Amino acid sequence: MRLFFTILVGLCLVTGCDNQDNSTQLISNENFLIIAHRGASAFAPEHTMIAYEIAHQAEVDYIEIDLQMTKDGVLVAMHDEKVDRTTDGTGLVKEYTLQELKQLNAGKWFNEEYPGLANREFENEQVPTLEEIFLHFGDEVNYYIELKSPRIYEGMEEKLLALLKKYDLIREGQDLPKVIVESFNEDSLTNFHALEPTLPLIQLFSFKEKAALSHSDYKRLQAYASGIGVNLKSVDQDFIHDAQLNGLQVHLYSLKNEIDIKNAFHLDANGVFVDSPILSELILKEES
Ligand code: G3P
Ligand code: CA
Repeated sequence: MRLFFTILVGLCLVTGCDNQDNSTQLISNENFLIIAHRGASAFAPEHTMIAYEIAHQAEVDYIEIDLQMTKDGVLVAMHDEKVDRTTDGTGLVKEYTLQELKQLNAGKWFNEEYPGLANREFENEQVPTLEEIFLHFGDEVNYYIELKSPRIYEGMEEKLLALLKKYDLIREGQDLPKVIVESFNEDSLTNFHALEPTLPLIQLFSFKEKAALSHSDYKRLQAYASGIGVNLKSVDQDFIHDAQLNGLQVHLYSLKNEIDIKNAFHLDANGVFVDSPILSELILKEES
């Protein structure tokens, strides 16, 4: 089935199927991408160096990093706008300077919430900056980076681009792009595309019911996005094939268990955000 669909998409690209004129196809369709959601977040506190390190050891295709920004304009890895859930502090990230944010413990909460997975070492974890992550992993991993709350952080796209340039992470023509940027915010992605058109962008959607995109949605997306990231529960195979025939990859989030991972693979998605990369690799080896 997968081979058949890859051939179909390939033929469409050669012969011209409806609406597939997407000049932003910057990710090869050859690979099924395993993206470690917030690092290996099933095993370690999300968005910490140790969570990314476990994902790296599991040889995932990408580590996923959600970005927030401090009061003094530093990009840091965190999912929520507030520090409350994943540190021992309270309040908004944007009200902390980096120095203040670094005083917070980013691992204790995990040990308290998941005593069966608790590890003393997690309690040494701080909130990492994006720059620290780049310095730590360099070229050894690929980065899938989410502009998380761009409407509250002015200049976030420019800051991300400056760091990508500083660490020479913008590469064209590779089988797996070194960096993919994602966001729920369309304005942020179109802004990013205008700044740097060679980086693949993924538009995120969270559909409450059945996923659906119109002809005009596809036209708009084709102008800046290489794909879409969609919540697994909202999609069926027709939706995924339709998006692919419109020149967009489909990456599904967030997969929690074996059933989710098998479903996503058989739906012909192009990639998955998984909390448990080790389990995912095992299942996908069996299924393919
Ligand atoms: O980025 C894909 C997925 O991570 C979106 O959900 O809330 O985990 O960032 P969230
Ligand atoms: Ca995310």
